[in-house]
Amino acid sequence: MALLSGRAALVTGGGRGIGEASARRLADNGAKVIVADMNLASAKSIVDDILKGGGEAKALEIDVAEFEKIPQKINEAKKLFGRIDILVNVAGITGSTPIEEITLESWDRMMNIDLKSMFFITQAVFAVMKEQGYGKLVHMSSLAALRGGRSSDASYAAAKAGILNLSKCFALHGAPYHITSNAVCPGNILTPMGKTLSWSKIDPKTYIPLGRYGTAEDIANAVLFYASDMSDYVTGDSMNVNGGLYM
Ligand SMILES: NC(=O)c1ccc[n+]([C@@H]2O[C@H](COP(=O)([O-])OP(=O)(O)OC[C@H]3O[C@@H](n4cnc5c(N)ncnc54)[C@H](O)[C@@H]3O)[C@@H](O)[C@H]2O)c1
Repeated sequence: MALLSGRAALVTGGGRGIGEASARRLADNGAKVIVADMNLASAKSIVDDILKGGGEAKALEIDVAEFEKIPQKINEAKKLFGRIDILVNVAGITGSTPIEEITLESWDRMMNIDLKSMFFITQAVFAVMKEQGYGKLVHMSSLAALRGGRSSDASYAAAKAGILNLSKCFALHGAPYHITSNAVCPGNILTPMGKTLSWSKIDPKTYIPLGRYGTAEDIANAVLFYASDMSDYVTGDSMNVNGGLYM
């Protein structure tokens, strides 16, 4: 039997990059996947591909920073497969504003999209998982959460550090309901977002111990572990997937 057979998963930011690779990885392992993104066209094209490959998937249009709509959107998501066993919070933006130039507006935008959304999406899904007595929460943090933002900015690093702590809060409060909550901290991953960052112009052999950039699939493998029952005794944890860059 497939690792995620019978499970329903919601992946935000599933339209491209790390979210896309995660959605595909979960579907390949038997999950029914909701590919949720603000870009509905790309979410639909991933869904079409998963269906062609014999998997099960549906697309959902969502802007994770439209907070008032979150309860209704999660309700919609639940109805698609009747439950939500796995939530993978991937939707997010990056920023590279110099520390002296961060404004109230740019700070709030980053917090809204990268941190506040993660809390309120998870809060809404948490209620569904509590009712089920089962859930796997996986959140996309960053290497920047651990060592400060270098190519990404201070507001991004702060938001991603917030995700690590909120993940622990959900882990503590979810434990009695068999809900685990864990985060992944990717290093330099060559996705459409990654290609906009300054590190993508540097030869990875010169600064990444494993000598290459990460791929979205490298991150999807960590997501699969936390989304599956292989990680049943792991909660409030995070995994560094960075080719050794944190050392
Ligand atoms: N690429 C890296 O090197 C790297 C490193 C560390 C962490 N991360 C994190 O991983 C996540 C994904 O990164 P990526 O490189 O795949 O990015 P990406 O920009 O390539 O893809 C992000 C996806 O999220 C969607 N999205 C953005 N804002 C949204 C919103 N408000 N509502 C719904 N969907 C939205 C986009 O439409 C897109 O499909 C982000 O949270 C990012 O911070 C990436």
